[in-house]
Amino acid sequence: MNSTPSNIVIAIDGPAASGKSTLALILAARLGFLYFDTGVMYRAVTLSALDELKGVEDEGLVTALAERIMIDVQPPSKDDGRTMDVLVDGADVTWKIRKPRIDRNVSVVSAYGGVRTAMTEQQRRIGSRGNVVMVGRDIGTVVFPHATYKIYLDASAEERARRRYTERIGRGEEASYDQILADIKYRDGIDSSREIAPLVAAEDAFIINTDGKTIEQVVGESLRILNIKPKNGG
Ligand code: DC
Repeated sequence: MNSTPSNIVIAIDGPAASGKSTLALILAARLGFLYFDTGVMYRAVTLSALDELKGVEDEGLVTALAERIMIDVQPPSKDDGRTMDVLVDGADVTWKIRKPRIDRNVSVVSAYGGVRTAMTEQQRRIGSRGNVVMVGRDIGTVVFPHATYKIYLDASAEERARRRYTERIGRGEEASYDQILADIKYRDGIDSSREIAPLVAAEDAFIINTDGKTIEQVVGESLRILNIKPKNGG
């Protein structure tokens, strides 16, 4: 399979809550690129599995489901805080995939080889639509190993848990810092140790550690690495 993109692909990989989505959204807006967070695909498969199969344990059934459903992402159609629309067989699941029951099950689903193969194919299709900032765990290593630019964002588990905690409290949700930290460490463990496409920086990725940095500092560092002229001089 040819995974050399003819469009510009900026791959942004890194662990949960490292700030990838925030960075990618700002870069996409400044550069006039599409924004595509690939984690939504694994979340969408998890949602369908929980709803249709009542669980995610049966790898064969979950894989068959992942091969059957059509997941698509589109620019946001509503001004309700979403960064993109996520559709499964045409139905809007944008908010359903953000619930804690999905957080708890998605690492298991994303470790299934057949699910990853199906999602990688769909990601290549969507990622070839135009210049794009793609966020994930394996974009620079597996999905688009020939991406034009690769950034790997890192931060300590404690810093990431603090950010998630502040975000949730900011949205008026209940949150426990200790629980968030435990969840992040649990997901890091699965994401980094799975056999297929484990979370690891590509050899040719620029690694940015975001501990103690503001988002503007991280954006500035990234733009210097990318050296692409922002749209509207912005
Ligand atoms: O970034 P996120 O929390 O929405 O990701 C959800 C899950 O999907 C997480 O367990 C890692 C996994 N994932 C992956 O394995 N590969 C990707 N390209 C994106 C996400």
